[in-house]
Amino acid sequence: MSFRLQPAPPARLNRCQLFGPGSRPALFPKMAGSAADVINLDLEDSVAPDDKDQARRNVIEAVGDVDWGNKTLSVRINGLDTPFWYRDVVDLLEQASDRLDQIMIPKVGNAADLYAVDALVTAIERAKGRTRPIAFEVIIESAAGISHVEEIAASSPRLQAMSLGAADFAASMGMATTGIGGTQENYYMAREGAKYWSDPWHWAQAAIVAACRTHGILPVDGPFGDFSDADGFRAQALRSATLGMVGKWAIHPSQVAMANEIFSPNEAAVTEAREILAAMDHAQRSGAGAAVYKGRLVDIASVRQAQVIVRQAELIAQQH
Ligand code: COA
Ligand code: MG
Repeated sequence: MSFRLQPAPPARLNRCQLFGPGSRPALFPKMAGSAADVINLDLEDSVAPDDKDQARRNVIEAVGDVDWGNKTLSVRINGLDTPFWYRDVVDLLEQASDRLDQIMIPKVGNAADLYAVDALVTAIERAKGRTRPIAFEVIIESAAGISHVEEIAASSPRLQAMSLGAADFAASMGMATTGIGGTQENYYMAREGAKYWSDPWHWAQAAIVAACRTHGILPVDGPFGDFSDADGFRAQALRSATLGMVGKWAIHPSQVAMANEIFSPNEAAVTEAREILAAMDHAQRSGAGAAVYKGRLVDIASVRQAQVIVRQAELIAQQH
């Protein structure tokens, strides 16, 4: 029980985050023209060490020069265990235009990591008189990150979204896999000669969703590496949506439409949610706390579920 209300997450769409390396500026206009809600220009692991400086310059220029429409624009900086991250933050905050919405901090291990970046960002914002505060998003992709997931979710008022990064997570955990997300061949139950594949990402995802929902943060599923496996992507994304995640990364444009579709409520669900709200409204006017809708009980909890769906549909309608 708690007397505190669960805070609402930021009221913006995050169904798909499309990534592209900062070292491939030719991709930027294509990313801007995509249907993704969030764009992540990458300075981290898709950029080779020798290309880091040039990628940073490309990204800073593109933040102001490319027309990003109404997308959330985010730049993934290098991890705090590298010699690159402070220069990423300093140059981005000092030189990139106000169009920059967010920075993504990878490999976060504890709340102090966010505190450190927040201190640097806050000082530069004040020094430069930046009026739009930069938001943060983080990747949980290590044993330390998942162990401290709740304190990380609570750590900074700038924090808006948290993703699971399956590949680095698997490496840090010593998991016997080299794939990036999805079904793992050896993670199955056996019965009467048949194999039943299970989901090795489930507990980490559920831990992230719980931490995020507690603190009003958007929980997001990270990359699915095999972009030629549409069925695998779809199954992974459907599982994530079912667990309460709001979106998924795309590491190739072919994944964007699938993520948008899976993380948008379908028309029937929106209609039903509106009807449930109307039924409850009617019941409450006549003094009842519950109503019957299509032969089943609906109550205050159903109203909350319906409101989430209707709010999402309204955000999508505003986008178009
Ligand atoms: N965003 C927008 N457009 C992209 C894109 C991206 N991330 N990746 C490829 N495209 C474009 C290509 O330019 C090409 O466009 P064209 O039809 O106008 O020529 C089209 O989509 C098809 O691309 P394809 O040839 O299949 O891919 P590729 O070989 O050029 O690149 C990857 C494949 C995986 C290297 C590339 O998609 C990529 O770098 N993805 C992001 C990786 C990343 O950021 N990782 C970090 C997070 S895990
Ligand atoms: Mg990673």
